[in-house]
Amino acid sequence: MSFSSDPPAAAVLDNACGTGIITEEILERFPTSSKPKVYAADLTPSMVSSLSTKAESKGWVNGEDGLVEASVMDAKELTFPYNMFTHSYTDLGILFFKNPEKGPSQIYRTLQPGGTAFLQPGRSWGTCRLCARRRKLCGPTALLGNYR
Ligand SMILES: C[S@@+](CC[C@H](N)C(=O)[O-])C[C@H]1O[C@@H](n2cnc3c(N)ncnc32)[C@H](O)[C@@H]1O
Repeated sequence: MSFSSDPPAAAVLDNACGTGIITEEILERFPTSSKPKVYAADLTPSMVSSLSTKAESKGWVNGEDGLVEASVMDAKELTFPYNMFTHSYTDLGILFFKNPEKGPSQIYRTLQPGGTAFLQPGRSWGTCRLCARRRKLCGPTALLGNYR
């Protein structure tokens, strides 16, 4: 995989993206002319494949020049460059990582100074259900915070 040395103005990471619920929330909120680019990554190939199918059905182009760039990637060893993302979402991912402490350091490394990170660790399924409800009510910005 290659990355442009000149990333677009808004570059969003959907980390441990699963089937792309966050990617979809983001892309559906913006008009076609101003949709940000979303880099969606997950360790599980079937999740990435499912997101790619969704991208195709939604008319988002998946790939280097598209709205979405979906890849199989370990969140503990992200291969994205330093300071790449303006926004970084890790929704209900960290609790599934082995050695979870390595996840946040990669989020920090790849986030631009002044960028915004969203982390929903989801400590229990009870929390997950609450989170799902909050996400439904408030959208993906419910737990945004500036981490750099
Ligand atoms: C509960 S799902 C959350 C998916 C999505 N973020 C959402 O909010 O719907 C957890 C995801 O974490 C992924 N995952 C687990 N360990 C991972 C790792 N080390 N790196 C990247 N993704 C990982 C799983 O494959 C799964 O898709």
